[in-house]
Amino acid sequence: MPGKTYGIDFGTSTIKIYRKNDGVVVDEKNIIAVEGRKKVIAVGNEAFEMHGKAPANINVSYPVKYGVIADINNMLELINYTFKALNKRGGMRAASVLIATPTDITEVEKRAFYDLIASSQVKPKSIKIVEKPIADAVGIGLDVNNAKGVMVVDIGADTTEVSIMSLGGIVISKLIPIGGNRLDESIRSTVKKSYNLVIGDRTAETIKKELATASPMEEKTIKAYGRNVVTGLPTEVDISSSFVYESIIEYIYSIIDAIRIILERTPPEISSDIIDSGIYVTGGSSAIKGLDVLLAKETGLKINICNDSANTVVNGLGKIIEDANLKDLASPLKEATIKG
Ligand SMILES: Nc1ncnc2c1ncn2[C@@H]1O[C@H](COP(=O)(O)OP(=O)(O)OP(=O)(O)O)[C@@H](O)[C@H]1O
Ligand SMILES: [Mg+2]
Repeated sequence: MPGKTYGIDFGTSTIKIYRKNDGVVVDEKNIIAVEGRKKVIAVGNEAFEMHGKAPANINVSYPVKYGVIADINNMLELINYTFKALNKRGGMRAASVLIATPTDITEVEKRAFYDLIASSQVKPKSIKIVEKPIADAVGIGLDVNNAKGVMVVDIGADTTEVSIMSLGGIVISKLIPIGGNRLDESIRSTVKKSYNLVIGDRTAETIKKELATASPMEEKTIKAYGRNVVTGLPTEVDISSSFVYESIIEYIYSIIDAIRIILERTPPEISSDIIDSGIYVTGGSSAIKGLDVLLAKETGLKINICNDSANTVVNGLGKIIEDANLKDLASPLKEATIKG
């Protein structure tokens, strides 16, 4: 039996893997818990449960940061562990692997993804790269091989990638280090400053998901629990949506600035296509309420917030794997100028 083909989206917050004929077989937090120096005790959602709670001898960390591999050893452990779990029966067979990588990173950073898979227990017979914006566009259902230009904005966890594509290739792409995690951090630090309350990452993310809006909306409040820095005691406070709006809006505007810069650099023929079709906004953080209204106001363009936005990259990889007409969208790593 021939080996399987896999498509991997190494997101900063989640890792998603598509397997030919089987669909998405992994959708887990991209996080690993290691005891001491080497003993992996959990990966994915199980490790995430330990985040912020683990004792000092257990280190829980995210091996991908800002869209690139920041911790090769732990990423390798995580991928080996994940593939072992996927192939419990029958063992690993020589697989083909498609990796989605951001476009606006260095060749060295792209090669790191390639080398990671090459040196893993996946023992692949072929490794190909798909640019993330292309995977996004295919996942959204756009015809990327068409001559019509499209703009895709992927607002993820650590990054936002703003890209223009046409004829199956990238015309321009910019990766900025702002995404949902930055919003969580800002909520955490503003809560600390305003209420003397220290809250955890996960609490900050919950507050964001419940209350974050990019345009002022009907006021809502939720209770947040944390530790009071003055008394040292567990405390609860009421957090309102306008408080959250004030703490995140500057970062939303940084994303808007990046979109503006790319629009300014877009060739005029493509600009007219974008006026026609609008901007496609995807990535998990595109779920922030009122984002479409603000983006439309600030760019004057039609805004399409995509369905299933956290999965458009992996869904695109899936389509590229299944549809022979799309196979040219995956390519071997360019012979980089560096060797060895
Ligand atoms: N309903 C929601 N409202 C606001 N943010 C949300 C919502 N659901 C998920 N998010 C945020 O989406 C982010 C995860 O998105 P996604 O899965 O696209 O990231 P990623 O691909 O792992 O990261 P990156 O692309 O930056 O490497 C997290 O910051 C999460 O808090
Ligand atoms: Mg992503």
